[in-house]
Amino acid sequence: MHDIAVLAGDGIGPEVVREGLKVLEAAADIHGFRYRTVAMPHGADHYLATGEAFPDTALREAHDFDAILLGAIGDPRVETGLLERAIIAGLRFGLDLYVNLRPVRLYDARFCPLKDRTPEDLDLIVVRENTEDAYAGIGGILKKGTPNEVAVQQMIYTRAGCERVIRYAYELCRKRGGKKRLTLVDKANAVRAHDIWTRTFAEVGLEYEDIQQDHAYVDAACMWMVKNPDWFDVIVTTNLFGDIITDLGAQLVGGMGIAASGNIHPGRVSMFEPIHGSAPKYAGKNSANPLATVCAVGMMLDHLGEEGAARSVEDAVRSLLTSGRIVTLSAGAIPTDRMGDMVVEALFKASGRRTSSAAGGKRKGAVAKSAGKGKSGSPNGSPGKRGGAGRARPRAARAPASPR
Ligand code: IPM
Ligand code: MN
Repeated sequence: MHDIAVLAGDGIGPEVVREGLKVLEAAADIHGFRYRTVAMPHGADHYLATGEAFPDTALREAHDFDAILLGAIGDPRVETGLLERAIIAGLRFGLDLYVNLRPVRLYDARFCPLKDRTPEDLDLIVVRENTEDAYAGIGGILKKGTPNEVAVQQMIYTRAGCERVIRYAYELCRKRGGKKRLTLVDKANAVRAHDIWTRTFAEVGLEYEDIQQDHAYVDAACMWMVKNPDWFDVIVTTNLFGDIITDLGAQLVGGMGIAASGNIHPGRVSMFEPIHGSAPKYAGKNSANPLATVCAVGMMLDHLGEEGAARSVEDAVRSLLTSGRIVTLSAGAIPTDRMGDMVVEALFKASGRRTSSAAGGKRKGAVAKSAGKGKSGSPNGSPGKRGGAGRARPRAARAPASPR
């Protein structure tokens, strides 16, 4: 039984998460695994109603799950960054989710803005460090609003922090069995502190003689990603640079509508989310593309040890995107719920089963349970049966710290 917290959040978050859960339910039906979902209420509405962004109790509760599915956070009614720092960064730092895994995979040539590029040319994955750098929160503003104002933000890198994410990237590169090339992206020619990345990368690399060590400064990496994206296999990089180059990566494969990410601590509760934001202008219009969330569900299934289900979700997305029925991944092209249905249909088609049991909301394996303080019912809006098991649940034996 997988225990999944669902933090739908703001803007288009609830709509895309609803579709992600639809696909999860279908995958559970087909592959025969069981799961429970608990809604976490955090986000702008909750903050405006209670004054609570993401309290310590929520973080403590988050520890008790196997995974967290997050929709989107951010709302124009709330000070810029407040909710993002409290909830997204709160989970990343609070759960020590040191890997932010971001696949950049082109499913069909038509979605690529580069001329003459095919899916074979664009299949890389970015391993973004997720707990340090300018995101560590060490900084502030002095004499704000005066002519003598001083603003400081420290980029923090620890040896242990670099080493664990670099090791993860080498392991992943080996496991992928692709070009076996790991590219370190940094700015060591200008940012002297990045020397710690250079050295750690080389030292850990001694244990991975089968992996080719490659390097690019971040500015050049942006240039290469456009000019020769086929060069890349796995990229490992700092938190801030990883944030930036993955938006570029997303655009190369069709845009934010398809870009998913996993915030991972191997063997522990991890958080999965689309990399797009809350897109308030599309909220409530049933027009956002839920495929990024669907792909995040696929990554979550992989993390939960449901590799077969994860693969079939990815295959369903691929078959849909190569079918010719989808011409753009931008918002507004296909209604959000219709896109979710199409993935579910593709899943069932590939399984040789009929779609009826999923469409009717009849669950075989899944039982929704509702959080004590959260919204009632399951997060996908269906009434949801109350699950029996409480929070105090023995933890399963955990896998060693390597990509799964
Ligand atoms: C992302 C987002 C976040 C980040 C924001 C919302 C804080 O852009 O997940 O890429 O910068 O990490
Ligand atoms: Mn970003």
